[in-house]
Amino acid sequence: MIVTTAQLFEQAYGNYAVGAYNINNMEQAIGLFEGNARAEAPFIVQISKGSRKYAGVTMIEAIIRAAEGMYPDNIFAVHLDHGDEKTCYDCIESGFYSSVMIDASHEEIDANVAITRRVVESAHDRGISVEAELGMLGGVEEDIDVDEKHAMLTDPDEADQFVRESGCDSLAVAIGTSHGAYKFSGGQGLHFDRIEAIQKRLPGFPLVMHGSSSVPQTEVKRINAAGGGLDPSARGVDVNEFAQAVQLGVTKVNIDTDGRLVWTRVHREFFRDQPEVFDFRKPGVILVEEYAQFIAFKSAKLLSAGQLENVRVAVTA
Ligand code: G3H
Ligand code: 13P
Ligand code: ZN
Repeated sequence: MIVTTAQLFEQAYGNYAVGAYNINNMEQAIGLFEGNARAEAPFIVQISKGSRKYAGVTMIEAIIRAAEGMYPDNIFAVHLDHGDEKTCYDCIESGFYSSVMIDASHEEIDANVAITRRVVESAHDRGISVEAELGMLGGVEEDIDVDEKHAMLTDPDEADQFVRESGCDSLAVAIGTSHGAYKFSGGQGLHFDRIEAIQKRLPGFPLVMHGSSSVPQTEVKRINAAGGGLDPSARGVDVNEFAQAVQLGVTKVNIDTDGRLVWTRVHREFFRDQPEVFDFRKPGVILVEEYAQFIAFKSAKLLSAGQLENVRVAVTA
């Protein structure tokens, strides 16, 4: 059942985070729906502009509808990830999306507010909620000095002003994470002090954590042992830190890279071990199972596992 993102957030805030997973193809979709069915977790399916281009809008949306048909007990929202203004309007008008993300974080704050405000007005007319982004979600490298590091993080006062002026429904905040496999070096991690300061200014308001893949060392090692060339220093977010972030208002956690690592590991190992095989359905079957296990594991760490019935009761009341 597709529900609004607002419905999911209402149940989740302060209790658990909703996993938001990017998908691009059929195998990922089946693994995603199967994993959440096993974990009894509500979730968000994310479609990026890249996914809309790769699979085609008609195909990626049809894959999600088909997965919904295969797993009628699942409860989820459909979300546009990192949209520009035009793509947001396309998704709002399509009637398929529960929420859109307008990413104007590269603009000055006034322009970011103005663009977000326009998308909010259009989306709210259709009952769709809007995620916006404020701050610079970049790698926090060790050779950047402390002042520069903190300047890249979302400013709590600006966040408060931004939310009031833009009317957005959730906010992606820069709290130390970045996209991709190379987030941290040394002992770096999430900036809990900054999340706490933002929550103090915006109590009860859903915060979104992008760049939340954990880039497991075991995956990196297995990929490299099977012919991959990933930098072994690749590091991500510690999954055991999700629970603390949840307490501080992080309600949506975006994960894409870890799913790509599962795909890469499964296929590299399969073709290394069975070089004579060319029936791609054989690794496909393995991928769906491994993907489902990966999703169920994340749900447990996000504390969303086991929450399905609570959400069902709330949305059908
Ligand atoms: O944050 C971006 C997501 O990982 C989506 O990546 O634009 O390559 O589909 P993509
Ligand atoms: P990762 O690259 O850490 O998976 O982040 C994905 C993301 O933020 C999608 O919006
Ligand atoms: Zn992102």
